[in-house]
Parts: sequence; C-alpha cells; structure tokens
Amino acid sequence: MKRLVVLISGNGSNLQAILDACANGELNARVIAVISNNADAFGLTRARRANVHALLKAKDKSQDRRAYDAELAELVSQYEPDFVILAGWMRILSSAFLDKFPNRVVNLHPALPDTFPGTHAIERAFNAYQRGEISHTGVMVHLVPDEGVDSGPVLAQEIVPIEKNDTLETLETRIHQVEHRLLVETIKRLETGD
Ligand code: GAR
Repeated sequence: MKRLVVLISGNGSNLQAILDACANGELNARVIAVISNNADAFGLTRARRANVHALLKAKDKSQDRRAYDAELAELVSQYEPDFVILAGWMRILSSAFLDKFPNRVVNLHPALPDTFPGTHAIERAFNAYQRGEISHTGVMVHLVPDEGVDSGPVLAQEIVPIEKNDTLETLETRIHQVEHRLLVETIKRLETGD
C-alpha cells in the first residue's frame, strides 16, 4: 500500500479523485496527509470528510522561500510518503523541498508539455484558441526534478480538443474530467512501477 501526501491550494477536485480511487480500491494507496498553503482551500474539507489528516502550512510574507520549503519538507517527511502529489498546488517548490524527495514529486498541469506553464493555463489556452493559434490543449502529469514551472519528465499526457461552441466553463469541465482520470491512472502506474 503506497503512502501519498497530497499538496493542494484550492478546490481539491483532483484530491477527491485520488481519495475516491483509494476508497474504491482502484488505487492500492492511502492518502496519509493533505497539506494546503491556503486556509480557504476546500480540499482541506474534503480531506477531513475522508478522515485524512488535513494541515494548513501557510507561508508568512516575511519568511524566506527556502526556509518555508525546508519546513514543508520536514512536515511532509514525517508522513514517510512514497509519493508527493501536487494536485493544484500553486507554489513553485525550490530544491530545499525537492531534493528531499527525488523522483517522488508528481505534478498535474492542465495543459500539454511546454505550453501555458503557471496559473490560468486553461483560460490562456481558451484565449489562444479564440485567436486561432491552437486547435486543442490537454493535460499532463510529470515528475518535478527542479524549479522549472510545470515542466519535468512527462509521466502521462492527453490531448483535449477545443470545440467551436466551447465556453471557458465547458472547456474547464472537460479538462478537469480528463485530469481526474489521468492523475489516478498515472499514480496507479507509479504504484506498480510500470
Ligand atoms: C487543476 O486544473 C490543476 O491541473 C491545476 O490547478 C487545478 C486544481 O484543481 N494546476 C496548475 O495549474 C499547476 N500549474 P483542483 O483543486 O480542483 O484539483
């Protein structure tokens, strides 16, 4: 049974997909802890509802970024995770965190490799489609080796088409559906070492 620590910043719908897959046996894994940098993250409520440790680890404005990352790493390592899943974690992690978990930090991003890194990726893809620059976007899951934003060895990717009558909302919904499935599938492959 693999031990997962999930880092979130917001709604936590991807966390929910992982919790559900653990509960229904699709994943041979357990979410040991959920940590948010944001007190308002609904994902904390999702964790508590699933009887999972839900922790808030916010960064003080005055705190040095690497010092925060080192404290976060300390907190996470107490749970001895096999994998640390970034499921809507909206902070860039420095080597003060990443070097503690080599090949164990997995990030989800709502775009294809090398496209729309950072925040609001779906909205930026939607706008690029409106300008005729792209015909599809996608989802990827990748390892996080360093401070590169939404980049690193790709574990899985899937194209998501953009339809003529899509609104930002319909595109977001379609992307989130793919994310929920692709993230669980990827964790499943990591579990078995495939
Ligand atoms: C997801 O779309 C995830 O891919 C994205 O944040 C959302 C979180 O949704 N992550 C990034 O943009 C990382 N750069 P959720 O809180 O409902 O899982």
